[in-house]
Amino acid sequence: MPVEPFLFEAEALTCIFGRGAKRVVAVDCVDFKIEQGEIVTIVGESGSGKTTLARMLLGLQRESSGRLLFLGRPITHRRTHFRAVQGVFQDPFGSFNQYYTVGNQLLDCYSILEKPPPKEQRWGQVQQALDRVKLNALEVENKFPFELSGGQLQRLMVARICIIGPQVLIADEPTSMVDACSRAEVLTSLLDLTRQLGMTIVFITHDLGLADLVSDRILVMYQGRIVEQGTTQQIVRAPNHAYTKKLISAVPTMDGNWLDR
Ligand SMILES: Nc1ncnc2c1ncn2[C@@H]1O[C@H](COP(=O)(O)OP(=O)(O)OP(=O)(O)O)[C@@H](O)[C@H]1O
Ligand SMILES: [Mg+2]
Repeated sequence: MPVEPFLFEAEALTCIFGRGAKRVVAVDCVDFKIEQGEIVTIVGESGSGKTTLARMLLGLQRESSGRLLFLGRPITHRRTHFRAVQGVFQDPFGSFNQYYTVGNQLLDCYSILEKPPPKEQRWGQVQQALDRVKLNALEVENKFPFELSGGQLQRLMVARICIIGPQVLIADEPTSMVDACSRAEVLTSLLDLTRQLGMTIVFITHDLGLADLVSDRILVMYQGRIVEQGTTQQIVRAPNHAYTKKLISAVPTMDGNWLDR
């Protein structure tokens, strides 16, 4: 029987920016595999290379060395890759064309689908997607992205995911700009959606408490390297690396109960 390839497979994957004194090794020789249907969280301190790795998974950043395979093949055709792998970013401002209205941008999502629905059904679907993320379609459809707040733009990114229905979602601090009260709501709607569509999720956060709640496996990044990876239980209950131990001790809700889950 043929063996199914991993969704992602990274071998000695490295990304270096700049040269000489400005050289930064953002991702430093990392190895990992992600299986279809998993929720994998990447945790790590600021500047540890999480977003750079996310951009590599999205096909937006090339490797300096090593290799990254998607379903057993290198990422060469970006359009096909974008259909399969979509992102929700911590900084949503760069993710939208500032010269198109929100409505037009959501309608534009259909242009990358292989089998888009008939034109007359599309606006109804866009409205449903906006409803789902609690944005008022009539209020936002004619607005330009710069007229929306960061939190509203992050909701809009989730609406875009509803429409495209990718195979994999890379969510880089997807609620960093949403206010604390709405954060759980946006995150829940994102997770419900991904479960319904059977998506694989790569979730990126500083927050190990959140990682514990949502993920099957955790990769811990520190200074560009993956210093530890394993099931959520392994990482949370029996961390090996000093940095992971430090992260666990920094979880504000940490108490005996949390460890004994
Ligand atoms: N385009 C770039 N050019 C040069 N250096 C970069 C670039 N992008 C990232 N870096 C550097 O690479 C390192 C990793 O950055 P990255 O954004 O991946 O970290 P991060 O873990 O996502 O941090 P945060 O939690 O603050 O979002 C940092 O030192 C950063 O300054
Ligand atoms: Mg980042």
